[in-house]
Amino acid sequence: MGDFDLSLREDADRFHAARASGGLQLRLVEQAFGEEYPAQVEPSSSCTWSVLAEMVRRLRLAPGELLVDLGCGRGGTGLWLARALATRLIGVDLSPVGVKLAAARATDFLPEGRARFQVGTFESTGLPDACADGVVSMDALPFAPDREAALRELARILRPGARAVFTVGERLPGHPRYDPAEPGWAERAARAGLLVEAELERPEEAALWLRLYELWEQHEAELRVEIGDEATEQVLIEARQARPVMRHHRSLLLTVRASAPARGPASVQAP
Ligand SMILES: C[S@@+](CC[C@H](N)C(=O)[O-])C[C@H]1O[C@@H](n2cnc3c(N)ncnc32)[C@H](O)[C@@H]1O
Repeated sequence: MGDFDLSLREDADRFHAARASGGLQLRLVEQAFGEEYPAQVEPSSSCTWSVLAEMVRRLRLAPGELLVDLGCGRGGTGLWLARALATRLIGVDLSPVGVKLAAARATDFLPEGRARFQVGTFESTGLPDACADGVVSMDALPFAPDREAALRELARILRPGARAVFTVGERLPGHPRYDPAEPGWAERAARAGLLVEAELERPEEAALWLRLYELWEQHEAELRVEIGDEATEQVLIEARQARPVMRHHRSLLLTVRASAPARGPASVQAP
């Protein structure tokens, strides 16, 4: 869940620069995720081995096809998937810092020229219609200021019949910001013209964050030395605010599909 806000470019830039510098913050994430931590991905998200496996199995991509990673950050999730599936990759992110760091990592995963990263937003990716054979988005779409517009853009770039797999969160009754009138992600995706193939709950995600919050608190003094008082206060506030509302929140992995064009009547063979 991670109740921080990365919807502003400056905040996202700062976040990626801090994560790229490694150090204690990264080690604590690794410790919190334990066996589920995909070290080479170095996610800035709740990406785990289980999520990667689920994405591989649901995208159904063939070698050479194009995978698009929306809100790619430092690129690890998309790069790992593109290598595993032998696809090409385009990563799009709001953060120029994230995009630059992702581009610098590309050849650790893929041959030169197989991946590129560009600045863009969920609502305006800068990609052509129906270009993507698959789309992933890891813990990123919830930052879209206009979720409907983001899903319409996702539907526009998917080629007919292609799938998108993405993680999102939803507030449940009891959450202080729960709004019964707010449509869920599956409903929003359907409104954008996408077919919802699967909606998988990720109950294990909450435990990852809870372990991380505990570790932040245990290592407060070292964090103050490493990232400064202000940044440390911020993570501790996040921990305090997020912990009590976690049971009123659910994490989902959604698979949606762009509808394939309707088939016309079988053509009549000329004699
Ligand atoms: C929690 S990070 C996840 C990064 C990456 N997917 C990963 O798994 O490591 C969320 C990402 O969403 C990006 N983001 C936030 N708002 C965005 C927007 N409107 N359009 C595109 N990217 C956005 C942020 O810059 C950040 O890289």
